[in-house]
Amino acid sequence: MRHLIDFGDLSREEWDTLYARASQIMDDPAQFMDVCRGRVSCNLFYEPSTRTNFSFQTAMMRLGGTVFGFADPNSSSVSKGETLKDTVKMVSGYADVLVMRTPWEGAAKAASLYSPIPVVNAGDGGHMHPTQTTADLTTITRLRGGVDGLSIGLCGDLKNGRTVHSLIKAMEKFRDVKFFLISPRELAVPEYIRAFMREHNIWFTEVSGLEAVIPQLDVLYMTRIQRERFVDPLEYERNKGIYILTRRKLDRAKPDMLVMHPLPRVDEITVDVDDDPRAAYFQQARYGMFARMALLADLANQPRLERTDAVEIGTKPVCTNPRCITQTEHYLPPLVKKNGGKDCCAFCDAELK
Ligand code: NCD
Repeated sequence: MRHLIDFGDLSREEWDTLYARASQIMDDPAQFMDVCRGRVSCNLFYEPSTRTNFSFQTAMMRLGGTVFGFADPNSSSVSKGETLKDTVKMVSGYADVLVMRTPWEGAAKAASLYSPIPVVNAGDGGHMHPTQTTADLTTITRLRGGVDGLSIGLCGDLKNGRTVHSLIKAMEKFRDVKFFLISPRELAVPEYIRAFMREHNIWFTEVSGLEAVIPQLDVLYMTRIQRERFVDPLEYERNKGIYILTRRKLDRAKPDMLVMHPLPRVDEITVDVDDDPRAAYFQQARYGMFARMALLADLANQPRLERTDAVEIGTKPVCTNPRCITQTEHYLPPLVKKNGGKDCCAFCDAELK
């Protein structure tokens, strides 16, 4: 693997190797303290983050490497109007790996076209968040022994929740996983995710009630209603507080069900759930650091490319998704890919109209 933009960039074998390394790190961290000695990570965070940014930073530090970057783009030349391409061309001259989070969908993919060093997508708008998936899969594997055959409930904002999209994409690599997609109709998964599940014969059902399905689940993955992604504030008001997991609701769940959440939580899990042995979300955040250590140990040690391939210069966006990176960075090439037989934008996955 050269970049991690979408969880699909990893083969099942690469995931198994990554998990095996994360396990070794958890069991004997001292053995890894010099693995990235002399290596430098550039972390560009164009959007708020606590866990992802901190866990990438601490992961690099625990491997003996160092980190620079910004957590607020207003403190960088981005605020002077620099293009993403120029920022990437420049910082990739200083670093060995580039970790980015942006509000624009497809931005990490765009950056990878111009980067001689590996690019890691740490969240691109409401699209994907593959390193959260490495945290999620590490948690499930470590606590449940494996992922195959599990019934997983995904609850909340499945439309804008990028962690959900990446987790669903990962399940193509496992066997007999069942998804219970729990959301109001207006916050259901995007069509390209539904097409992906159909194409890969992933079993799923879409429901609006949590309580009816909770007894069937092995994992319940709660998510925050993604307020910052709503164009219409009334839509947010209608949906906030819609699912709240309480201790009482947990009474009907299996005794070994895992309660997961990428965090931050707002009100979707009451604090009295935190002390239930099934609550795994804080542990999940810690496992995320180990998974990122395993990832950086590989990516930050890859040789830099002498030069990147020439990229076709675009003139106007072919994608109509207003949150797609091609809407603001017009030089990007008009790349197209197939999703479930349909032509889609290769940056943000939206269907091309
Ligand atoms: C998630 C994100 O940023 O997408 N947080 C995280 O990375 N752990 C989930 C969220 O913000 O709700």
